[in-house]
Amino acid sequence: MRPALIDTDPGIDDALALLLAWSSPEIQVEAITTVAGNVPLDVATTNVLRLLALRRPTPRPVVAPGAASPLARALTTATRYHGEDGLGDLPDWPSVEPAPASPDAVSVIVDAARRHGRELTLVALGPLTNLALALKEDAAAVRRIGRVVAMGGAVDVPGNVTPTAEFNMHVDPEAAHRVLAAGLPLELVPLDATRQAVLPRAGMRVALARSPGTLAVRIQAFSERAFRIAHGDGSQGMALHDPLAVAVAVDPSLAKWEAMRLAIGPDGETLRASGAPNCRVAKGVESDRFLRLFLDRLCPATSRRSASS
Ligand code: RIB
Ligand code: CA
Repeated sequence: MRPALIDTDPGIDDALALLLAWSSPEIQVEAITTVAGNVPLDVATTNVLRLLALRRPTPRPVVAPGAASPLARALTTATRYHGEDGLGDLPDWPSVEPAPASPDAVSVIVDAARRHGRELTLVALGPLTNLALALKEDAAAVRRIGRVVAMGGAVDVPGNVTPTAEFNMHVDPEAAHRVLAAGLPLELVPLDATRQAVLPRAGMRVALARSPGTLAVRIQAFSERAFRIAHGDGSQGMALHDPLAVAVAVDPSLAKWEAMRLAIGPDGETLRASGAPNCRVAKGVESDRFLRLFLDRLCPATSRRSASS
């Protein structure tokens, strides 16, 4: 069980990714850092607390808020897709206790890097602002992290926020540039891969029906908005961007990787560049095996007990 830290901007797919991570015995999520992206920072942090109250993973991870805005530009959110509250705008989320006082995200990232070094897997599911700030704080420590898996980019496929840029990179291109230039063991999971990880609404329904209970009901409810928009846009289902990043952090063999040198364009484009590789990029995905792993773990049978409790 390797120590892991997840940096996230929940977000419906981030929420599904966190639920997958909490049901994956290969990693222990000791900290969750939040970043402004899909939604403003405070909304992202509240959503992590909502999900912790819903799923109750043990041990409970530290929750550390991070950057409220990108390094050098105004925040662009994605509330059209995720809802104003980032989790489908459901009317009935129970209120959450404020996060216990914790150091800020950068301190938590740097501390985990110093303590765990090569043992640590850092999974970034939002804009790379916090990681870039952690590099500024202590680049030597952050470079000792064993694996940095980041969902982001669109290399040989169109973008999803402009014709050429993917959302996470578009929100904070300056941060993405610094992360790519830092000499990290960076594993990028771009739209090239995540668009191969599409879950139809019916697939989610069948899987959740195997584990009836409070968790399944809530997952179905907050995912519905994403399915409605995806199917409305003519897609076969929801592209599981962030869950795929967690899955390849757990099992890298789910993807075919290509060593690449990437540069970041002014709008957050991820451009192939000449020179020594600065990351490896997931290009192929074993989609069926990924979807089985995701659905088997999303809503574990233990959640049935919560139905009766
Ligand atoms: O482009 C997809 C990415 O942007 C995902 O991480 C999604 O949550 C949004 O943050
Ligand atoms: Ca995200």
